[in-house]
Amino acid sequence: MSGERHPARAKLAYALDFPTLAEAQQGAGRVADSVGVLKVGLELFVSEGPRVIELGRELGCCVFLDLKLHDIPETVERAVAAACAHGVRYLTLHAAGGPKMLAAAAARASRENTGLDLLAITVLTSLDAADLEAVGVSGDPSHQALRLARLANRHGIPGMVCSTAEVATLRAALGPDAILVTPGIRPTAHPGGDDQKRTGTPEGAIRAGSSLLVVGRPIRDAADPGAAARAISDEIQRASAVA
Ligand code: C5P
Repeated sequence: MSGERHPARAKLAYALDFPTLAEAQQGAGRVADSVGVLKVGLELFVSEGPRVIELGRELGCCVFLDLKLHDIPETVERAVAAACAHGVRYLTLHAAGGPKMLAAAAARASRENTGLDLLAITVLTSLDAADLEAVGVSGDPSHQALRLARLANRHGIPGMVCSTAEVATLRAALGPDAILVTPGIRPTAHPGGDDQKRTGTPEGAIRAGSSLLVVGRPIRDAADPGAAARAISDEIQRASAVA
């Protein structure tokens, strides 16, 4: 870290998709000037446990715990309480868990009152129409994303995770207060989507109304991760000025 914090860093979350705490610490340290949110996902949390959450405090970043909870209402509610006790800023759960699960989670987060915002996963950015069809959901992924976002919103969930292709529709449907989070971001400097199927650029995501962009491999796998993160925050700042 150089110490100078990028003005757009609150809108950029870095996916800490690393196998060990030491690698995550090193990876996060390289980009923390340009990234305000550290996303701890399944690989890191399963290998290292809750101590990874400390990284946020060490580097002056919020922690986004991406556990994508999907279980019976009581189990999810209790996991929400545990995440609140760790002081994380965001926690994901699947909107497809249904109305009772969503309502129980929202009620528990608000009762704990620790500043945690729940984010409902609508349709994973790795899925296209054919993948949805294979699990019994016909039609365009954007229709399913909107349906699930509305369901989560009705049951008190403040944020939704969707692709850049759906964010404008969700913004129009849910209004300015919804926290809309977009993974599947592919800057022009990182062509190809890896396993992501519904991708977009940082500029496109901001212009369409995204609140927070999630970026992993385009930063992690860049020759210079610090420069890659800074370039994305620069693009976010430019796009925010005209959005
Ligand atoms: O490497 P990449 O930029 O594709 O990273 C995307 C990150 O966002 C991964 O950590 C993945 O788990 C997460 N994510 C996603 N799609 C969602 C929700 C989270 O890709 N719908």
